[in-house]
Amino acid sequence: MSNLVVVGTQWGDEGKGRVVDFLSKKADAIVRFQGGSNAGHTVMVTGEKFIFHLVPSGALRRGEKCIIGNGVVVDPRELLEEIKNLQSRGIKVDNLYLSGSAHVVMPYHRKIEEMEEEQRDKQKIGTTKRGIGPAYADKIARKGLRIADLLDKKILAQKLSAALKFWKDIYSLNYSFDKIFEEYLNYGRELRKYVTDTSLLVNQLMQENKDIIFEGAQGTLLDVDHGTYPYVTSSNTVSGGVCTGIGIGPTRIDKVLGVVKAYTTRVGKGPFPTEIKGEIGKILREKGKEYGATTGRARRCGWFDGVILRYAARVNGLDELALTKLDVLDELERIKICVAYKYKGKIIKDFPFQLNVWEGCEPVYKEMEGWMKDTSIVNKYEDLPEEAKRYINMIEKVGGVFVHLLSVAPQRSKLLTIG
Ligand code: GDP
Ligand code: IMO
Ligand code: MG
Repeated sequence: MSNLVVVGTQWGDEGKGRVVDFLSKKADAIVRFQGGSNAGHTVMVTGEKFIFHLVPSGALRRGEKCIIGNGVVVDPRELLEEIKNLQSRGIKVDNLYLSGSAHVVMPYHRKIEEMEEEQRDKQKIGTTKRGIGPAYADKIARKGLRIADLLDKKILAQKLSAALKFWKDIYSLNYSFDKIFEEYLNYGRELRKYVTDTSLLVNQLMQENKDIIFEGAQGTLLDVDHGTYPYVTSSNTVSGGVCTGIGIGPTRIDKVLGVVKAYTTRVGKGPFPTEIKGEIGKILREKGKEYGATTGRARRCGWFDGVILRYAARVNGLDELALTKLDVLDELERIKICVAYKYKGKIIKDFPFQLNVWEGCEPVYKEMEGWMKDTSIVNKYEDLPEEAKRYINMIEKVGGVFVHLLSVAPQRSKLLTIG
Protein backbone atom coordinates (compact mmCIF):
# COMPACT_ATOMS: atom_id res chain seq x y z
CA MET A 1 0.00 0.00 0.00
CA SER A 2 1.12 3.52 -0.61
CA ASN A 3 -0.31 6.99 -0.75
CA LEU A 4 1.35 9.02 -3.44
CA VAL A 5 0.93 12.73 -4.13
CA VAL A 6 1.60 13.92 -7.69
CA VAL A 7 2.15 17.67 -8.07
CA GLY A 8 3.26 20.09 -10.76
CA THR A 9 6.58 21.77 -10.00
CA GLN A 10 6.39 24.70 -12.42
CA TRP A 11 3.43 26.78 -13.72
CA GLY A 12 1.19 23.85 -14.57
CA ASP A 13 0.88 21.74 -17.73
CA GLU A 14 3.93 19.68 -16.81
CA GLY A 15 2.23 16.47 -17.96
CA LYS A 16 0.58 15.49 -14.67
CA GLY A 17 -2.35 13.86 -16.47
CA ARG A 18 -0.20 11.46 -18.45
CA VAL A 19 1.88 10.60 -15.36
CA VAL A 20 -1.23 9.96 -13.25
CA ASP A 21 -2.74 7.84 -16.02
CA PHE A 22 0.44 5.75 -16.14
CA LEU A 23 0.63 5.30 -12.37
CA SER A 24 -3.09 4.63 -12.01
CA LYS A 25 -2.56 1.26 -13.67
CA LYS A 26 -1.62 0.01 -10.21
CA ALA A 27 -3.77 2.27 -8.04
CA ASP A 28 -7.11 1.73 -6.30
CA ALA A 29 -8.16 5.37 -6.20
CA ILE A 30 -7.25 8.66 -7.88
CA VAL A 31 -8.14 11.74 -5.91
CA ARG A 32 -8.36 15.40 -6.90
CA PHE A 33 -7.88 17.72 -3.91
CA GLN A 34 -7.83 21.29 -5.26
CA GLY A 35 -8.45 23.46 -8.31
CA GLY A 36 -11.38 23.03 -10.62
CA SER A 37 -12.08 23.04 -14.32
CA ASN A 38 -9.18 25.46 -14.83
CA ALA A 39 -7.14 22.24 -15.00
CA GLY A 40 -6.66 20.50 -18.34
CA HIS A 41 -4.92 17.15 -18.00
CA THR A 42 -4.17 15.33 -21.24
CA VAL A 43 -3.94 11.57 -21.62
CA MET A 44 -3.13 9.97 -24.98
CA VAL A 45 -4.24 6.40 -25.48
CA THR A 46 -3.44 4.76 -28.82
CA GLY A 47 -3.76 8.03 -30.67
CA GLU A 48 -6.94 9.07 -28.88
CA LYS A 49 -6.76 12.25 -26.82
CA PHE A 50 -8.63 12.72 -23.54
CA ILE A 51 -8.55 16.01 -21.64
CA PHE A 52 -9.66 15.88 -18.01
CA HIS A 53 -10.82 18.98 -16.20
CA LEU A 54 -12.62 17.83 -13.07
CA VAL A 55 -12.73 14.06 -13.40
CA PRO A 56 -9.45 12.52 -12.14
CA SER A 57 -7.08 11.36 -14.89
CA GLY A 58 -7.31 7.75 -13.75
CA ALA A 59 -10.81 7.42 -15.24
CA LEU A 60 -9.59 5.57 -18.31
CA ARG A 61 -8.45 2.59 -16.28
CA ARG A 62 -11.05 0.14 -15.07
CA GLY A 63 -11.95 -0.34 -11.47
CA GLU A 64 -10.23 2.56 -9.68
CA LYS A 65 -12.29 4.92 -7.68
CA CYS A 66 -12.19 8.49 -8.99
CA ILE A 67 -12.66 10.91 -6.15
CA ILE A 68 -13.23 14.66 -6.16
CA GLY A 69 -12.46 16.03 -2.71
CA ASN A 70 -13.78 18.96 -0.70
CA GLY A 71 -10.87 21.20 -1.75
CA VAL A 72 -12.00 21.24 -5.38
CA VAL A 73 -14.38 23.92 -6.67
CA VAL A 74 -16.91 22.24 -8.91
CA ASP A 75 -18.85 23.73 -11.77
CA PRO A 76 -21.69 21.18 -11.93
CA ARG A 77 -22.50 21.94 -15.54
CA GLU A 78 -18.92 21.29 -16.59
CA LEU A 79 -18.64 18.16 -14.48
CA LEU A 80 -21.83 16.68 -15.95
CA GLU A 81 -20.69 17.59 -19.44
CA GLU A 82 -17.33 15.93 -18.85
CA ILE A 83 -19.00 12.78 -17.55
CA LYS A 84 -21.35 12.66 -20.57
CA ASN A 85 -18.47 13.26 -22.93
CA LEU A 86 -16.50 10.40 -21.47
CA GLN A 87 -19.55 8.13 -21.54
CA SER A 88 -20.15 8.96 -25.19
CA ARG A 89 -16.60 7.76 -25.86
CA GLY A 90 -17.26 4.44 -24.15
CA ILE A 91 -15.69 5.31 -20.78
CA LYS A 92 -17.78 4.24 -17.82
CA VAL A 93 -17.75 6.83 -15.08
CA ASP A 94 -19.55 4.75 -12.48
CA ASN A 95 -16.75 4.85 -9.93
CA LEU A 96 -16.94 8.57 -9.33
CA TYR A 97 -17.28 10.03 -5.84
CA LEU A 98 -17.88 13.69 -5.18
CA SER A 99 -17.48 15.46 -1.86
CA GLY A 100 -20.66 17.03 -0.51
CA SER A 101 -18.42 19.73 1.01
CA ALA A 102 -16.84 20.79 -2.30
CA HIS A 103 -17.80 24.34 -3.22
CA VAL A 104 -19.91 25.09 -6.26
CA VAL A 105 -18.92 27.44 -9.07
CA MET A 106 -21.98 29.58 -9.75
CA PRO A 107 -22.83 31.63 -12.86
CA TYR A 108 -22.06 34.88 -11.05
CA HIS A 109 -18.52 33.68 -10.30
CA ARG A 110 -17.63 33.76 -13.97
CA LYS A 111 -19.19 37.18 -14.34
CA ILE A 112 -17.32 38.56 -11.32
CA GLU A 113 -14.06 37.13 -12.62
CA GLU A 114 -14.64 38.80 -15.98
CA MET A 115 -15.42 42.14 -14.32
CA GLU A 116 -12.44 41.95 -11.97
CA GLU A 117 -10.03 41.06 -14.78
CA GLU A 118 -11.36 43.98 -16.79
CA GLN A 119 -10.91 46.28 -13.82
CA ARG A 120 -7.30 45.16 -13.29
CA ASP A 121 -6.35 46.89 -16.52
CA LYS A 122 -2.54 46.46 -16.82
CA GLN A 123 -2.33 44.05 -13.86
CA LYS A 124 -4.45 41.32 -15.45
CA ILE A 125 -3.79 37.78 -14.23
CA GLY A 126 -4.88 36.11 -17.45
CA THR A 127 -7.15 33.61 -15.73
CA THR A 128 -8.84 30.65 -17.38
CA LYS A 129 -12.26 32.36 -16.97
CA ARG A 130 -13.75 29.38 -15.18
CA GLY A 131 -14.92 31.31 -12.10
CA ILE A 132 -12.25 29.67 -9.93
CA GLY A 133 -10.97 32.74 -8.04
CA PRO A 134 -14.42 34.10 -7.08
CA ALA A 135 -15.62 30.61 -6.07
CA TYR A 136 -12.67 30.19 -3.68
CA ALA A 137 -13.13 33.79 -2.48
CA ASP A 138 -16.75 33.02 -1.56
CA LYS A 139 -15.63 29.87 0.23
CA ILE A 140 -13.15 31.80 2.36
CA ALA A 141 -15.66 34.61 2.91
CA ARG A 142 -18.10 31.96 4.18
CA LYS A 143 -20.84 32.63 1.69
CA GLY A 144 -20.29 29.89 -0.85
CA LEU A 145 -22.67 27.10 -1.81
CA ARG A 146 -21.52 23.53 -1.37
CA ILE A 147 -22.45 20.49 -3.42
CA ALA A 148 -24.58 19.18 -0.53
CA ASP A 149 -26.65 22.39 -0.70
CA LEU A 150 -27.80 21.43 -4.20
CA LEU A 151 -29.43 18.31 -2.78
CA ASP A 152 -31.87 20.16 -0.53
CA LYS A 153 -34.50 22.41 -2.10
CA LYS A 154 -34.99 24.53 1.00
CA ILE A 155 -31.31 25.09 1.74
CA LEU A 156 -30.58 25.84 -1.90
CA ALA A 157 -33.38 28.43 -2.05
CA GLN A 158 -32.18 30.09 1.13
CA LYS A 159 -28.47 30.21 0.21
CA LEU A 160 -29.05 31.18 -3.39
CA SER A 161 -31.34 34.07 -2.53
CA ALA A 162 -28.83 35.35 0.05
CA ALA A 163 -26.02 35.12 -2.52
CA LEU A 164 -28.01 36.86 -5.26
CA LYS A 165 -28.99 39.60 -2.86
CA PHE A 166 -25.35 40.07 -1.89
CA TRP A 167 -24.17 40.40 -5.51
CA LYS A 168 -27.05 42.72 -6.32
CA ASP A 169 -26.25 44.98 -3.36
CA ILE A 170 -22.48 44.99 -3.88
CA TYR A 171 -22.00 44.69 -7.66
CA SER A 172 -25.47 45.58 -8.95
CA LEU A 173 -25.67 42.19 -10.62
CA ASN A 174 -29.18 41.10 -11.49
CA TYR A 175 -29.77 37.38 -11.79
CA SER A 176 -33.06 35.60 -12.04
CA PHE A 177 -33.48 33.47 -8.93
CA ASP A 178 -35.95 31.08 -10.58
CA LYS A 179 -33.71 30.24 -13.50
CA ILE A 180 -30.59 29.51 -11.44
CA PHE A 181 -32.61 27.72 -8.75
CA GLU A 182 -34.18 25.32 -11.27
CA GLU A 183 -30.89 24.78 -13.08
CA TYR A 184 -28.86 24.04 -9.95
CA LEU A 185 -31.58 21.93 -8.39
CA ASN A 186 -31.42 19.80 -11.52
CA TYR A 187 -27.64 19.54 -11.27
CA GLY A 188 -28.13 18.36 -7.71
CA ARG A 189 -30.54 15.66 -8.90
CA GLU A 190 -28.08 14.49 -11.53
CA LEU A 191 -25.05 14.53 -9.24
CA ARG A 192 -26.74 13.05 -6.17
CA LYS A 193 -25.61 9.50 -6.90
CA TYR A 194 -21.95 10.54 -6.77
CA VAL A 195 -22.10 12.61 -3.60
CA THR A 196 -20.49 11.24 -0.47
CA ASP A 197 -18.17 11.99 2.45
CA THR A 198 -14.89 11.67 0.56
CA SER A 199 -12.72 12.14 3.66
CA LEU A 200 -14.37 9.11 5.21
CA LEU A 201 -14.05 7.15 1.98
CA VAL A 202 -10.35 7.94 1.49
CA ASN A 203 -9.50 7.18 5.11
CA GLN A 204 -11.36 3.88 4.85
CA LEU A 205 -9.42 3.00 1.71
CA MET A 206 -6.22 3.79 3.58
CA GLN A 207 -7.22 1.48 6.39
CA GLU A 208 -7.77 -1.25 3.80
CA ASN A 209 -4.19 -0.68 2.59
CA LYS A 210 -5.27 0.48 -0.85
CA ASP A 211 -2.98 2.37 -3.21
CA ILE A 212 -4.09 5.96 -3.60
CA ILE A 213 -2.84 8.69 -5.91
CA PHE A 214 -3.58 12.32 -5.11
CA GLU A 215 -3.60 14.20 -8.39
CA GLY A 216 -2.50 17.81 -8.15
CA ALA A 217 -3.72 20.43 -10.56
CA GLN A 218 -1.84 23.57 -11.69
CA GLY A 219 1.71 23.82 -10.37
CA THR A 220 3.83 25.00 -7.44
CA LEU A 221 4.37 28.51 -8.79
CA LEU A 222 0.61 28.95 -9.18
CA ASP A 223 0.03 28.17 -5.49
CA VAL A 224 -1.82 31.01 -3.75
CA ASP A 225 0.70 31.06 -0.87
CA HIS A 226 3.92 29.80 -2.40
CA GLY A 227 3.56 30.88 -6.02
CA THR A 228 4.27 34.09 -7.87
CA TYR A 229 1.46 35.99 -6.14
CA PRO A 230 -0.71 37.68 -7.40
CA TYR A 231 -0.12 35.85 -10.70
CA VAL A 232 -1.37 32.58 -9.27
CA THR A 233 -4.51 30.52 -8.99
CA SER A 234 -6.65 30.63 -5.84
CA SER A 235 -5.85 27.28 -4.22
CA ASN A 236 -2.97 25.50 -2.53
CA THR A 237 -1.48 23.49 -5.34
CA VAL A 238 1.45 22.18 -3.28
CA SER A 239 1.48 18.75 -1.64
CA GLY A 240 0.31 20.21 1.68
CA GLY A 241 -3.03 20.98 0.02
CA VAL A 242 -3.86 17.28 0.04
CA CYS A 243 -4.51 17.18 3.77
CA THR A 244 -7.05 20.00 3.84
CA GLY A 245 -8.38 19.31 0.34
CA ILE A 246 -9.43 15.80 1.32
CA GLY A 247 -9.41 15.51 5.07
CA ILE A 248 -6.47 13.23 5.77
CA GLY A 249 -3.61 13.69 8.20
CA PRO A 250 -0.09 14.52 6.98
CA THR A 251 1.17 11.29 8.53
CA ARG A 252 -0.77 9.37 5.87
CA ILE A 253 1.28 10.56 2.91
CA ASP A 254 4.04 8.19 1.88
CA LYS A 255 5.60 9.84 -1.11
CA VAL A 256 5.52 13.03 -3.17
CA LEU A 257 6.30 12.92 -6.88
CA GLY A 258 6.98 16.17 -8.72
CA VAL A 259 6.19 16.39 -12.41
CA VAL A 260 8.60 18.63 -14.26
CA LYS A 261 8.87 19.58 -17.92
CA ALA A 262 12.31 19.49 -19.56
CA TYR A 263 11.90 23.23 -20.21
CA THR A 264 9.51 25.82 -18.75
CA THR A 265 6.11 27.06 -19.85
CA ARG A 266 3.66 29.51 -18.43
CA VAL A 267 0.20 30.51 -19.60
CA GLY A 268 -1.27 33.77 -18.43
CA LYS A 269 0.51 36.81 -17.09
CA GLY A 270 3.35 37.27 -14.63
CA PRO A 271 7.14 37.35 -14.60
CA PHE A 272 9.09 34.51 -16.17
CA PRO A 273 12.89 34.98 -15.98
CA THR A 274 13.90 32.19 -18.39
CA GLU A 275 11.29 33.05 -21.04
CA ILE A 276 12.64 32.89 -24.60
CA LYS A 277 11.10 35.56 -26.77
CA GLY A 278 12.91 34.59 -30.01
CA GLU A 279 13.01 31.71 -32.48
CA ILE A 280 13.83 28.96 -29.95
CA GLY A 281 10.73 29.88 -27.94
CA LYS A 282 8.67 29.33 -31.08
CA ILE A 283 10.39 25.99 -31.76
CA LEU A 284 9.54 24.80 -28.25
CA ARG A 285 5.93 25.97 -28.63
CA GLU A 286 5.41 24.24 -31.95
CA LYS A 287 7.32 21.02 -31.23
CA GLY A 288 5.88 20.82 -27.71
CA LYS A 289 2.38 21.76 -28.95
CA GLU A 290 2.29 24.32 -26.18
CA TYR A 291 -1.30 25.46 -26.44
CA GLY A 292 -3.57 25.36 -23.38
CA ALA A 293 -5.60 22.17 -22.87
CA THR A 294 -8.40 24.24 -21.27
CA THR A 295 -8.33 27.57 -23.08
CA GLY A 296 -6.27 26.89 -26.23
CA ARG A 297 -4.05 29.89 -25.41
CA ALA A 298 -0.43 29.81 -26.61
CA ARG A 299 1.86 29.01 -23.70
CA ARG A 300 4.94 31.15 -23.13
CA CYS A 301 8.09 29.01 -23.36
CA GLY A 302 11.53 29.24 -21.80
CA TRP A 303 14.62 27.38 -20.63
CA PHE A 304 14.60 25.02 -17.67
CA ASP A 305 14.75 26.88 -14.38
CA GLY A 306 16.65 25.01 -11.68
CA VAL A 307 15.94 27.64 -9.01
CA ILE A 308 12.25 26.92 -9.39
CA LEU A 309 12.77 23.17 -9.18
CA ARG A 310 14.86 23.53 -6.01
CA TYR A 311 12.10 25.65 -4.55
CA ALA A 312 9.41 23.15 -5.57
CA ALA A 313 11.45 20.36 -3.99
CA ARG A 314 11.48 22.33 -0.74
CA VAL A 315 7.86 23.44 -0.48
CA ASN A 316 6.45 20.10 -1.62
CA GLY A 317 8.97 17.81 0.07
CA LEU A 318 9.60 16.08 -3.24
CA ASP A 319 10.89 12.52 -3.07
CA GLU A 320 11.34 12.03 -6.79
CA LEU A 321 10.65 13.48 -10.21
CA ALA A 322 8.82 12.55 -13.37
CA LEU A 323 10.58 14.44 -16.17
CA THR A 324 8.42 15.02 -19.25
CA LYS A 325 8.80 16.24 -22.83
CA LEU A 326 12.52 15.56 -23.17
CA ASP A 327 11.88 14.86 -26.88
CA VAL A 328 10.88 18.49 -27.44
CA LEU A 329 14.55 19.47 -27.03
CA ASP A 330 15.76 16.89 -29.59
CA GLU A 331 16.58 19.40 -32.31
CA LEU A 332 18.43 22.01 -30.28
CA GLU A 333 22.18 22.24 -30.77
CA ARG A 334 22.74 23.99 -27.45
CA ILE A 335 20.50 23.92 -24.39
CA LYS A 336 20.54 26.34 -21.49
CA ILE A 337 19.65 25.54 -17.93
CA CYS A 338 19.22 28.21 -15.28
CA VAL A 339 21.20 27.32 -12.16
CA ALA A 340 20.84 30.59 -10.19
CA TYR A 341 19.65 34.18 -10.55
CA LYS A 342 21.54 37.43 -10.53
CA TYR A 343 19.92 40.33 -8.71
CA LYS A 344 21.63 43.73 -8.51
CA GLY A 345 24.97 42.04 -9.18
CA LYS A 346 24.48 39.38 -6.49
CA ILE A 347 23.99 35.65 -7.10
CA ILE A 348 20.75 34.29 -5.65
CA LYS A 349 20.29 30.55 -5.34
CA ASP A 350 16.97 30.46 -3.54
CA PHE A 351 13.69 31.54 -5.04
CA PRO A 352 12.98 35.11 -3.80
CA PHE A 353 9.70 35.65 -2.00
CA GLN A 354 9.21 39.30 -3.08
CA LEU A 355 7.68 39.71 -6.51
CA ASN A 356 9.67 42.88 -7.23
CA VAL A 357 12.97 41.07 -6.56
CA TRP A 358 11.84 38.14 -8.65
CA GLU A 359 10.90 40.52 -11.48
CA GLY A 360 14.37 42.01 -11.41
CA CYS A 361 16.20 38.66 -11.46
CA GLU A 362 18.27 37.62 -14.43
CA PRO A 363 18.94 33.94 -14.98
CA VAL A 364 22.47 32.57 -14.67
CA TYR A 365 22.74 29.87 -17.28
CA LYS A 366 24.85 26.81 -17.73
CA GLU A 367 25.01 25.90 -21.39
CA MET A 368 25.01 22.29 -22.46
CA GLU A 369 25.40 20.44 -25.72
CA GLY A 370 22.19 19.18 -27.29
CA TRP A 371 21.89 15.57 -28.46
CA MET A 372 20.35 16.19 -31.89
CA LYS A 373 18.78 12.73 -31.95
CA ASP A 374 15.22 11.46 -31.77
CA THR A 375 14.59 10.44 -28.16
CA SER A 376 10.92 9.60 -28.77
CA ILE A 377 11.95 6.23 -30.21
CA VAL A 378 13.90 5.27 -27.08
CA ASN A 379 12.33 2.58 -24.92
CA LYS A 380 14.79 2.47 -22.06
CA TYR A 381 16.92 5.01 -20.26
CA GLU A 382 20.18 3.26 -21.13
CA ASP A 383 19.55 3.90 -24.85
CA LEU A 384 19.36 7.67 -24.50
CA PRO A 385 22.14 9.73 -26.09
CA GLU A 386 24.90 10.58 -23.60
CA GLU A 387 24.18 14.32 -23.89
CA ALA A 388 20.55 13.71 -22.91
CA LYS A 389 21.67 11.70 -19.88
CA ARG A 390 24.00 14.55 -18.92
CA TYR A 391 21.09 17.00 -19.21
CA ILE A 392 18.94 14.82 -16.94
CA ASN A 393 21.80 14.54 -14.45
CA MET A 394 22.14 18.31 -14.42
CA ILE A 395 18.43 18.70 -13.64
CA GLU A 396 18.80 16.24 -10.77
CA LYS A 397 21.86 18.04 -9.48
CA VAL A 398 20.41 21.52 -9.63
CA GLY A 399 17.04 20.43 -8.20
CA GLY A 400 18.46 18.02 -5.63
CA VAL A 401 15.93 15.30 -6.54
CA PHE A 402 16.29 12.14 -8.65
CA VAL A 403 14.34 11.53 -11.84
CA HIS A 404 12.41 8.29 -11.48
CA LEU A 405 10.14 8.53 -14.51
CA LEU A 406 11.03 9.93 -17.91
CA SER A 407 8.58 10.81 -20.65
CA VAL A 408 9.82 11.04 -24.24
CA ALA A 409 6.45 11.23 -26.07
CA PRO A 410 2.81 11.66 -25.05
CA GLN A 411 1.81 8.01 -25.56
CA ARG A 412 1.33 5.69 -22.60
CA SER A 413 4.21 3.41 -23.60
CA LYS A 414 6.65 6.31 -23.67
CA LEU A 415 6.96 6.85 -19.95
CA LEU A 416 10.18 5.11 -18.96
CA THR A 417 11.14 4.06 -15.46
CA ILE A 418 14.69 4.88 -14.38
CA GLY A 419 16.47 2.80 -11.79
P1 GDP B 1 -1.04 18.67 -17.25
O1 GDP B 1 -1.98 19.80 -17.10
O2 GDP B 1 0.11 18.75 -16.31
O3 GDP B 1 -1.70 17.33 -17.19
O4 GDP B 1 -0.42 18.81 -18.71
P2 GDP B 1 -1.23 19.16 -20.07
O5 GDP B 1 -2.01 17.98 -20.46
O6 GDP B 1 -1.93 20.44 -19.94
O7 GDP B 1 -0.02 19.43 -21.05
C1 GDP B 1 0.94 18.47 -21.35
C2 GDP B 1 0.96 18.26 -22.86
O8 GDP B 1 2.16 17.61 -23.22
C3 GDP B 1 -0.15 17.35 -23.36
O9 GDP B 1 -0.53 17.75 -24.65
C4 GDP B 1 0.50 15.97 -23.41
O10 GDP B 1 -0.10 15.09 -24.35
C5 GDP B 1 1.89 16.34 -23.83
N1 GDP B 1 2.97 15.45 -23.34
C6 GDP B 1 3.07 14.84 -22.14
N2 GDP B 1 4.25 14.19 -22.04
C7 GDP B 1 4.90 14.40 -23.22
C8 GDP B 1 6.18 14.02 -23.72
O11 GDP B 1 6.99 13.38 -23.06
N3 GDP B 1 6.50 14.46 -24.97
C9 GDP B 1 5.66 15.22 -25.73
N4 GDP B 1 6.07 15.60 -26.93
N5 GDP B 1 4.45 15.59 -25.29
C10 GDP B 1 4.08 15.20 -24.05
P1 IMO C 1 -3.18 22.31 -15.13
O1 IMO C 1 -3.79 21.53 -14.01
C1 IMO C 1 -1.49 26.13 -16.44
C2 IMO C 1 -3.18 29.75 -14.62
C3 IMO C 1 -3.95 30.70 -15.53
C4 IMO C 1 -3.64 32.01 -14.84
C5 IMO C 1 -3.65 31.65 -13.37
C6 IMO C 1 -4.96 31.92 -12.66
O2 IMO C 1 -3.68 21.94 -16.47
O3 IMO C 1 -1.70 22.33 -15.02
P2 IMO C 1 -7.33 30.71 -12.68
O4 IMO C 1 -8.29 30.46 -13.79
O5 IMO C 1 -6.88 29.47 -11.99
O6 IMO C 1 -7.80 31.73 -11.70
O7 IMO C 1 -6.04 31.36 -13.40
O8 IMO C 1 -3.37 30.26 -13.31
N1 IMO C 1 -3.66 28.35 -14.62
C7 IMO C 1 -3.01 27.33 -15.22
N2 IMO C 1 -1.90 27.34 -15.99
N3 IMO C 1 -2.10 24.96 -16.12
C8 IMO C 1 -3.18 24.94 -15.33
O9 IMO C 1 -3.74 23.80 -14.89
C9 IMO C 1 -3.72 26.17 -14.87
N4 IMO C 1 -4.77 26.51 -14.11
C10 IMO C 1 -4.71 27.84 -13.95
O10 IMO C 1 -3.47 30.65 -16.84
O11 IMO C 1 -2.34 32.44 -15.17
MG1 MG D 1 -2.86 21.33 -18.24
